[in-house]
Amino acid sequence: MNEEWNTIDRGARFLKERLGTGPDVHLVLGSGLGGVAHGLEDSRSVRFDEIPGWTNSTVDGHAGELRRGWIAGVEVLLQMGRIHLYEGHTAAQVVRPVRVGIAYGAKTVILTNAAGAINEAFRAGDLMMIEDHLNLTGVNPLTGPNNDGRGERFPDMTNLYCSKLRATALDRAAHLGIVLRSGVYAGVNGPSYETPSEVRMMAGMSVDAVGMSTVLEAIAARHMGARICGISCITNQAASIRGVPLRHDEVKMFAAKASDDLIRLIAAILDSQEG
Ligand code: HPA
Repeated sequence: MNEEWNTIDRGARFLKERLGTGPDVHLVLGSGLGGVAHGLEDSRSVRFDEIPGWTNSTVDGHAGELRRGWIAGVEVLLQMGRIHLYEGHTAAQVVRPVRVGIAYGAKTVILTNAAGAINEAFRAGDLMMIEDHLNLTGVNPLTGPNNDGRGERFPDMTNLYCSKLRATALDRAAHLGIVLRSGVYAGVNGPSYETPSEVRMMAGMSVDAVGMSTVLEAIAARHMGARICGISCITNQAASIRGVPLRHDEVKMFAAKASDDLIRLIAAILDSQEG
């Protein structure tokens, strides 16, 4: 475990050398949500594979990168590309970018993702504020020896997704005319989409949306004491609800469509942080 923390500290030092002092906000972009990067002013970037100890892999085979820049007058570290369990990576590798972002200076972590709706009222293109999550991946990034200097052995997960940020986001969305749902996100391992029985099971467990990311990063970020905000972009109704097979390109298309609203929403959340 200490070796992992050494890798994290090396990553944070590398970012400091290349990008200067770390910003307060680490913003993770999910599949197809790269459009948010176009709203980033004055950006400087490093590729994942330049950072010591990092795995370079993202869904589409493009190099992931970290960009530092400004959104709505707030400096952010934008993480474009994620490490997923379904690619064969460990939980520690999945959460490494977020841990490095926090070690580099982030106090707030905004996690975005593409998700399938379990809640039948949700439509493709909707955004959902994550109220809480179910970690259904079967793994936890805090497994193994704990480094007490970095976080508690048994961190509390009440109000994991900051209720103040959620309330602000809902209020701002209403003013901006953005449809913003609120609900419980279930994180699964993937890469197969859900079977009809799995969708029924999740509906019975009060899940509103399902996806293949976010939950491990949220746990790791909370462990390190960061404030967390989670936003899902609903890209489809979960497989059995609509009765036709799901395709990844469709998921990406709807994510791209929701990017505009997402950037306006994130800008409004960041703006409110400053005040
Ligand atoms: N299931 C799991 N992950 C997803 C989905 C889905 O329906 N859509 C986007 N990511």
